[in-house]
Amino acid sequence: MLETVRGPRQLIVGEGVAQNIPRVVAENGSRVLVVTDRTLLGQPGVAGIVAAVREQVGVVEVFSDATPDVPLADVDRAVAAAAAVDADVILAVGGGTVIDLAKIVGVIRCHGGTPRDFYGESRVPGPTIPLVAVPTTSGTGSELTPVSVLTDPDRELKVGVSSVHIVPDFAIVDPELTYSCPATVTAHSGIDAFCHAVESYTARPRPHGPRDPVEQVFLGRNQVTDHYALLAAERIARSLRRAVRDGGDTDARADMSYGSVLAGLAFSHAGNAAPHALQYPIGAATHTPHGLGVGLLLPYALRAARDAVGDRLATLAGVCGLDVADASPAEAVEVFLDWLDGLLADIGIPPTLADIGVARADLPRFAELAAGVTRLIQNHPGPTDTTSLTAILEAAWAGDRT
Ligand SMILES: NC(=O)c1ccc[n+]([C@@H]2O[C@H](COP(=O)([O-])OP(=O)(O)OC[C@H]3O[C@@H](n4cnc5c(N)ncnc54)[C@H](O)[C@@H]3O)[C@@H](O)[C@H]2O)c1
Ligand SMILES: [Fe+2]
Repeated sequence: MLETVRGPRQLIVGEGVAQNIPRVVAENGSRVLVVTDRTLLGQPGVAGIVAAVREQVGVVEVFSDATPDVPLADVDRAVAAAAAVDADVILAVGGGTVIDLAKIVGVIRCHGGTPRDFYGESRVPGPTIPLVAVPTTSGTGSELTPVSVLTDPDRELKVGVSSVHIVPDFAIVDPELTYSCPATVTAHSGIDAFCHAVESYTARPRPHGPRDPVEQVFLGRNQVTDHYALLAAERIARSLRRAVRDGGDTDARADMSYGSVLAGLAFSHAGNAAPHALQYPIGAATHTPHGLGVGLLLPYALRAARDAVGDRLATLAGVCGLDVADASPAEAVEVFLDWLDGLLADIGIPPTLADIGVARADLPRFAELAAGVTRLIQNHPGPTDTTSLTAILEAAWAGDRT
């Protein structure tokens, strides 16, 4: 037996819980850097949070220039903003971009250096200043995960900093903050969360020695990650379409918030797999939103691994509420994959890599780059040699779902 569970010191999920933000921030420091973006700062919900924090905390600096996918230039500017007020606590209010930026700012503020010093797994040498993370999308789970994903202009693929030391200290997840998400952001972030659940649930289990839970961040699936993943898949499957269609559907918004939290808990330990690894070079090349890319790739990666995880896909069919009571396991797999195709189409995810401007000639190079993202690709339950990964990309490029 070998198990590990990591997470924020406190994780709170529910309508209205954003009211706790000023108190939690004030209890953790007296000079706060707020990280957010301009769109969010222009909204009453986020502006209200900043105003309430100003009433309780002596020094408040707001960095609102976060731009999608955390380009390194943003990190430099945000680190400078933190230094200007000698910040001793960070409050991140935003999507995965904002929270990932806040994580790396905390690392550099405590340990110096540049983001490049921390790329990879378990390279952050110790704790950082307290981070209070408040998501405004239902997707990445970044408010509780040990990962920060950055865009380095000198690299052909996005880069990750993974460490138990960057799990935010407090995660305050209020579905009301997601009500303003436009349908595209709801769709992209929501399908990202569904990928986290499914990639964790189908991740390859691996044998481990006693040092692995500290030396490695992602460990493959286990019973605990399965539990979180299935709870997440159930909620997201019943509510993602509804949240995209009607952003005012508060029940669907609540399901998506809790579902993305549960999916984050699953992949925080299991890790993601081929769709995420393949999206690293594709996202860097095409600048398509993260969720759109991983959602597009998911059905192709699953079809390539169906022999290894057919029983799991059949379980997912039942958990996602599909009518498989009288189906054989093989039929249930088909029902699940067909349903996934329909879900992706309904929420506006393009069906092929050609649709998002990927050149066919680039596929082998993307496969090679993805094969190098060991911490993710080793979770793929199918073959992971570059020929097999290229075959997934070829199918995704051409829309071949056989
Ligand atoms: N750290 C992790 O564990 C993890 C996991 C998966 C993905 N990621 C990363 O997270 C990023 C994607 O994050 P995301 O999907 O949350 O999107 P995002 O943070 O990039 O935001 C997308 C857009 O939505 C807007 N937005 C966010 N919340 C809004 C709201 N409530 N109302 C209106 N507009 C809103 C933002 O202003 C932005 O323009 C990528 O860089 C991805 O690589 C990180
Ligand atoms: Fe993701």
